[in-house]
Amino acid sequence: MDSHKITVPEIMGMKSAGEKIACLTAYDWCFAALLDQVGLDIVLVGDSASMVYAGYETTIPITMEQMLYHTQCVSRGVKRALLIADMPFLSFQISPEETLRNAGRFLKEGRAEGVKIEGGEPMAETIHRITDVGIPVMGHLGLTPQSIKVFGGYRIRGKDEREAEILKNDARILEQAGVFALVLEKIPATLAKEISGSIAIPTIGIGAGPDCDGQILVTHDLLGLFEEFKPKFVRKYAELAKTMRDAFSNYVKDVKSGTFPSSRESF
Ligand code: KIV
Repeated sequence: MDSHKITVPEIMGMKSAGEKIACLTAYDWCFAALLDQVGLDIVLVGDSASMVYAGYETTIPITMEQMLYHTQCVSRGVKRALLIADMPFLSFQISPEETLRNAGRFLKEGRAEGVKIEGGEPMAETIHRITDVGIPVMGHLGLTPQSIKVFGGYRIRGKDEREAEILKNDARILEQAGVFALVLEKIPATLAKEISGSIAIPTIGIGAGPDCDGQILVTHDLLGLFEEFKPKFVRKYAELAKTMRDAFSNYVKDVKSGTFPSSRESF
């Protein structure tokens, strides 16, 4: 059993070493323990839990207390990977002080090793404040799902020159503010490549092409568990929704026909 614990400096060093960073999301102990056995570098307790775990239509409704609970569950399963918790909508936008208190709770109560914050330049002061006191922060630019009401949908970001310039500038500003890594979501591969080449911190792509320094997917998408929609950038490594439906339906058949439990499954 590998007892090595991945640290923030190691993640940052992987960029210069040319080693790709593999990241996935988790929301509970069982998935986290499985993910931690396969050499994953970062486990993110994503606010995607709001959609794929809680069944809301967006990431906006999930609360601070709910994200803390998910982080605590995941932390009991993760021994090796770096554990990052996503700060939910309105837990970091009110003031740097409130953000610091909430980010600190993820470390103290959730046993996370860092937090993720969506947004560019307007978040720089807040990010500065919390990295200054020793809380590692991962940035998130591009299609930031908490801004879905402003975007009006999940379309690709940074396609026109004006938006691309803003994203390039935001990436530099976040690096200066102290983020140790930067998620780039659903932007053109060429733009992600340019941003990755322009900053010293690693970029983690989701729908941002092959030239990011690492990749992340929502685990429920990769497993074929979430069937509401399938973004083009998702590669399904399993069809677990079908496998689970088959298992549940076989169980119902066996109970109805009286073949479960058998004598071997009885006392
Ligand atoms: O909430 C989430 O799962 C995320 C990642 C997919 C980047 O923000």
